[in-house]
Amino acid sequence: MLLRPALPVAFSSTLPLFSHLAAVRRRCSIAATGMAGVSAASPAAAQIGSFLSKKPYAPPSWASHLALAPSHTFSLGHFPTPIHKWNLPNLPEGTEVWIKLSGNKVRKLEFLLADAVAQGADCVITVGGIQSNHCRATAVAAKYLNLDCYLILRTSKLLVDQDPGLVGNLLVERLLGAHIDLVSKEEYGKIGSVALADLLKKRLLEEGRKPYVIPVGGSNSLGTWGYIEAVRELEQQIQLSGDVQFDDIVVACGSGGTIAGLALGSKLSSLMAKVHAFSVCDDPEYFYDYVQGLIDGLQSGLDSHDIVSIQNAKGLGYAMNTAEELKFVKDIATATGIVLDPVYSGKGAYAMLKDMADNPSKWKGRKVLFVHTGGLLGLYDKVDQMSSLAGSWRRMDLEESVPRKDGTGKMF
Ligand SMILES: Cc1ncc(COP(=O)(O)O)c(C=O)c1O
Repeated sequence: MLLRPALPVAFSSTLPLFSHLAAVRRRCSIAATGMAGVSAASPAAAQIGSFLSKKPYAPPSWASHLALAPSHTFSLGHFPTPIHKWNLPNLPEGTEVWIKLSGNKVRKLEFLLADAVAQGADCVITVGGIQSNHCRATAVAAKYLNLDCYLILRTSKLLVDQDPGLVGNLLVERLLGAHIDLVSKEEYGKIGSVALADLLKKRLLEEGRKPYVIPVGGSNSLGTWGYIEAVRELEQQIQLSGDVQFDDIVVACGSGGTIAGLALGSKLSSLMAKVHAFSVCDDPEYFYDYVQGLIDGLQSGLDSHDIVSIQNAKGLGYAMNTAEELKFVKDIATATGIVLDPVYSGKGAYAMLKDMADNPSKWKGRKVLFVHTGGLLGLYDKVDQMSSLAGSWRRMDLEESVPRKDGTGKMF
């Protein structure tokens, strides 16, 4: 099976930092040292023009009984995304952890934006935190499809009347010309994301626009198809690799759509892996309810408690990190080359390893797939907190007598 770069840069927060590894991974999409590569078609064989095209959609056979099956999807990401062994330190005896570089938000947007276009929308509205990866991915995808993008971003009361700046996701959104409305956390808490989006929708309708509202994180029943489809991708990767099976799937949870699709897909497909979610905001009970609503929308007839185990990894609160969590992100990067975002996968992996240390018998001997959901632009928001942890540098020691040799890169 061929490996393609994960996603266009602005979509995939994984791509900029992982691209140096792409050559290593180009052999196959499930790769491990010593494992034979699956025969690969050349990446150049990907059809020119298939990216951004509208394609008819048929659900996997095991999901064909679900409601709201989309009829079309837009090709916005490059799939399958790679899976490889993740050599984490201090695992319980016999436990293996593998990692899938996921391309998270774009999976839901492939379905949501196909619906927006089918409904004749000329713009989209969505809502999120000030460094929302979902809002950035929506802004990019909307531009690709020639839709205007309106973002309602939540920030602190102190900052709500100020220029939000250009850090991380905001830089991409503002370069793209997304319209940004700031609200304070207090206003957001009082009014809620649904009413805020409705208010903006009403104003845009009055201006003669045709807005399409995408909920926080793209997490509604239609968006859930993005991760049902990710399970089909995973199933195919596993079938092609021959000898890799996963007992557990671990992922961070922020608005619930990712775990709803993964858990439902894992339950219905041949995967049958246990899905463990680590929530980075709100509490597990909130997410059991929310996921229940999403899978009820698909008429799955299943109980969320039976398909996913949700644990709290919120720590200090959404998008807030302890010094220990940030040191963990730094240590994992140094030890394994994998850069975790501090808001989602960083907290998820931190909580997973803590759970493995606290309950080794639960994880002993298991093959675990950790789904890295991207979000690396969020790291830029933590630069100040991370500066003391970052690697060192020095002025190169040069003696006057070093003779010049010509080569490439003559700068003057
Ligand atoms: C980088 C990243 N990872 C994980 C998540 C969580 O996914 P979900 O919102 O579907 O729970 C989000 C968004 O909330 C995200 O931006």
